[in-house]
Amino acid sequence: MPGVPTDPAETECGNLAVPMEEMVAATNPAPAGSGDAAPVPAAPGRIGVVGAGVMAEAMVAGWLRRGLVQPQQVTCSHPRPERREELRHRYGVEVVGSNASASRAASIVALTVKPQMLPRVLPELRGTLTDDALVLSIVAGASTASIRAGLGHSAVVRAMPNTPAQIGSGVTVWYATPDVNPGQRELADLLLHALGVSVEVEDELQVAMATALSGTGPTYAFLFAEALIEAGVHLGFPRHLARTLVWDTLRGSVDFAVQSGEHPARLRDMVTSPGGTSAEALAALERGRFRTVVGDAVWAAYRRTKELETGTSSAGGPPTGPGASGRAG
Ligand SMILES: NC(=O)c1ccc[n+]([C@@H]2O[C@H](COP(=O)([O-])OP(=O)(O)OC[C@H]3O[C@@H](n4cnc5c(N)ncnc54)[C@H](OP(=O)(O)O)[C@@H]3O)[C@@H](O)[C@H]2O)c1
Repeated sequence: MPGVPTDPAETECGNLAVPMEEMVAATNPAPAGSGDAAPVPAAPGRIGVVGAGVMAEAMVAGWLRRGLVQPQQVTCSHPRPERREELRHRYGVEVVGSNASASRAASIVALTVKPQMLPRVLPELRGTLTDDALVLSIVAGASTASIRAGLGHSAVVRAMPNTPAQIGSGVTVWYATPDVNPGQRELADLLLHALGVSVEVEDELQVAMATALSGTGPTYAFLFAEALIEAGVHLGFPRHLARTLVWDTLRGSVDFAVQSGEHPARLRDMVTSPGGTSAEALAALERGRFRTVVGDAVWAAYRRTKELETGTSSAGGPPTGPGASGRAG
């Protein structure tokens, strides 16, 4: 199927050992409907979740925790019986082996399979959706045009969450096709809020751009943290201490920057004394072309997103500079 990605998305992450409801509870212990949370409207109708893996579980756990849906409103499809049993046991949702059974009569059909499964799954769903159903896809690199063509259905939301969504602390950027009505738009926003911050964009290209910035963003953050921890170990810190110092420094710096509302360049300037340690460290980063490398990485991720959208591949190709292939990828 043209336009449907056939490669694994580079924004995907591995399964976590801890059940989603435990991770979310540890991070955000306020249960749905508890005093400090504003009451939220419930999602109407049934939700079919097609391909109930890690991100799907994060979504279902968030919806249930916030009281947006009742377990009996959710039907999750999965090919493996043990995974179906796991989901039924943890959340009390309905589970089915057939993707078509999950989407039939659902008012929302969440597409949460890996990109390479989409060419197989879309034909299974074609003809099962009701006219007023909303398709909510989080499949990386799958354009609304390819989903609409594959399903023969025009109300589609394409969303790009990121890994912290698994604990309700993600950022999701989403685009709705013109056939998504205002009520469905509101519902999509409500459901995506269960993953953290939800940002709607008017231009689908910005979902591809967000894939490179926020979707892939945790990868940049993890690599930077890893490099700092290794540097700390190289200095002579025990690993556990280096880890604590780095994570708490990063967490505190982000909180401080967000609370101050200042541009990061100004905050950096504030902590850089003439002839001091920060000035010396910054000079070393600039010699290493830190900004250029970060910019190149974001552009490389963007180009890869566009390749996944069009089904082309550059695997093994040489790296290219920022903007070398333009925004159209
Ligand atoms: N994880 C992230 O942080 C993240 C961020 C942004 C976007 N996304 C997107 O979210 C989607 C899901 O990612 P994920 O990390 O949740 O992956 P995942 O855990 O692998 O979830 C996909 C699930 O689909 C199942 N599956 C395989 N074949 C199927 C079929 N024919 N029909 C129905 N289900 C089938 C898989 O089963 P098996 O376990 O047996 O393979 C797996 O449990 C991807 O498209 C990804 O691009 C993920």
